[in-house]
Amino acid sequence: MAEAAIIDGRAIATGLRERIAEAAARLREEHGIIPGLAAVLVGDDPASQIYVRSKARACAAARLASFEHRLTADAGLAAILDLVTQLNGDDRVDGILVQLPLPSDIDPRAVIAAIDPDKDVDGFHPVNVGRLWSGEPGLVPCTPQGVMMLLRSTDVRLQGAEAVVLGRSAVVGRPVAALLLAADCTVTLVHSKSRDLRAICRRADIIVAAIGRPQMVKADWLKPEVTVIDVGINRIVIPEGGVRLVGDVDFAAARRVAGAITPVPGGVGPMTIACLLRNTLLAACRRRGLPDPAVLSADVIKV
Ligand code: GUN
Repeated sequence: MAEAAIIDGRAIATGLRERIAEAAARLREEHGIIPGLAAVLVGDDPASQIYVRSKARACAAARLASFEHRLTADAGLAAILDLVTQLNGDDRVDGILVQLPLPSDIDPRAVIAAIDPDKDVDGFHPVNVGRLWSGEPGLVPCTPQGVMMLLRSTDVRLQGAEAVVLGRSAVVGRPVAALLLAADCTVTLVHSKSRDLRAICRRADIIVAAIGRPQMVKADWLKPEVTVIDVGINRIVIPEGGVRLVGDVDFAAARRVAGAITPVPGGVGPMTIACLLRNTLLAACRRRGLPDPAVLSADVIKV
């Protein structure tokens, strides 16, 4: 049997970033608006520092403004809330992103709830979660948006499809389930306490794996020709020495069964920052009562 088609997240993200740069140029020329993204980093977690740096680089490439705010790990909740309040009121700032995880003594819910929902480019604020589940326009979390764009880049038919989402996190699993439901899939959301994952997965026309367990989804969990989106990014130690990035799906074996599959790396990962920039542009337009840029509208990029 033919091997699964590879869904090339790098190429699709590059196309999206080009459309974002185009839309940003038009906003600048026609309205004098430069959309701005503020990133808040609390503490010195090395992975978070890398993420924040790459977000700033991506903003620069699309000619968006970016603002970085660093607080020490012992800054405390009040100082973080003060900063968020200041950013809510700053007209140069269209998007606010508080990098997670926060230090263990800070309740992330208190911080997220303080962000103006119309600047909440992560889509984590309860108002945006409610908008997503009730089908109202809002800001949609970035990785789930990327998952939908990758699915829509394939020829899989979403309407009526059996979609199985592995993982119920607020960042990926739950919002992906909401988006698949909005796209008329029949959605099953499974998690660590679900029974007989293999049997449930074998029914699926679409699998989105976001459970954080390296290579958990095996080839014999898959129906032939299934479309697989692997959100997992796991570091494993390999016998030859060193580490390797793998997803939540046993890629090499799954590729012999699936119809289309995302690689790790190079699948979902590159989509996330591109969608963050997209949200920043949408927030900049909506806050000013302007229509969403045509090149970013859902039917062009098919969120
Ligand atoms: N840390 C890891 N992923 C994310 C994300 O999508 N948003 C934020 N704010 N922090 C993260």
